[in-house]
Amino acid sequence: MKILFVCLGNICRSPAAEAIMQQLIGDRLDISCDSAGTSSHHLGELPDKRMHAALEKRGYPHRSRSRQVKSQDFYDFDLILAMDHDNHRNLQRICPDPQLLSKLKLMCEYCEQHQMDEVPDPYFGGLNGFTQVIDLLEDACLGLWKSLQRS
Ligand code: 4NP
Repeated sequence: MKILFVCLGNICRSPAAEAIMQQLIGDRLDISCDSAGTSSHHLGELPDKRMHAALEKRGYPHRSRSRQVKSQDFYDFDLILAMDHDNHRNLQRICPDPQLLSKLKLMCEYCEQHQMDEVPDPYFGGLNGFTQVIDLLEDACLGLWKSLQRS
């Protein structure tokens, strides 16, 4: 099972999702995850300093570099999780085959505690936006993890 988390810049939300999910996956070899952005503005960059600090504080190791999502990802991954509706729409547009659209979902579909339907973009907001994103992603990743155990 290969999972891809997608946000806009691949420097805040999706690298955080990848780090949190990786912690749950541990050393299981049959599940892997990666992250990407729909934009190319931050290509090759490490996560935003604010997200880096928030992840460190919760003890999540991470080492991703920003990359842009590509059509091929729909063949290479089993599940593609968009952080918000905008990114979901952009992913629909680059999907190379309508049959592969069933791989695309919204991250918040897996939330069990939070009522939000998208992971808000923390980039232009304050520091607590970053911890709120982590709270939301911890909920969604745990829900995703449970759904993988059931299937
Ligand atoms: P992300 O956050 O999509 O969660 O990585 C953002 C990063 C950069 C920008 C917007 C959102 N930006 O406008 O540069």
